Amino acid sequence: MTSQRLPEKEDILQARKNEMVRIILIGYMGAGKTTLGKALAKALGFQFVDLDWYIENRYRKSVKEIFSEKGEDGFRKIEQSMLHETAEFENIIISAGGGTPCFFDNISYMNRQAKTVYLKTSNDVLFHRLKIAKSKRPLLAQKTDDELKAFIEKNLEEREPFYSKADYIFSADRLEDKFQIDESVNKLRTLLNI
Ligand code: S3P
Repeated sequence: MTSQRLPEKEDILQARKNEMVRIILIGYMGAGKTTLGKALAKALGFQFVDLDWYIENRYRKSVKEIFSEKGEDGFRKIEQSMLHETAEFENIIISAGGGTPCFFDNISYMNRQAKTVYLKTSNDVLFHRLKIAKSKRPLLAQKTDDELKAFIEKNLEEREPFYSKADYIFSADRLEDKFQIDESVNKLRTLLNI
């Protein structure tokens, strides 16, 4: 008689992960998590949650206000608890904040709960996108162009080990217009087989 191994908790979670769609997009600020997440959700007919928007809606405050009232530590605690709430939803596309995977055990938690995708972008692309979109981002808002460039380089190097733990890595350099976004959505669907 062959003895069959009983499924372990990890196997059950893995099976559940394959049964329904729950995708978390991670990556640096400006990587296109919101742009691609929204477009992917629309193409699949699923709900989309942007973790920052979810936090802002729940706390009735902007991320910038939360940072200035509670400091980054306070924001990270809120972010973790809102991650735990949203990552229970099913048939959902979630875009995390740029720092979400890099605090607590968040990346392991996300990998258990969902298919995670690291949207990888070159430093140059990030710099050009963030140069015009830094004002709402407390970690970047006050930086000059030179400081921004240097910060992206150093911070991304520190975060890369966390991002690289994602289930999938996807190049998100081409998201500048509708054509490129549609093309990226199709490529991502092929990668994820959905
Ligand atoms: C942060 C990224 C932001 C937001 C906060 C902190 C980070 O989200 O959560 O400003 O630490 O990288 P986006 O990646 O959506 O800009």
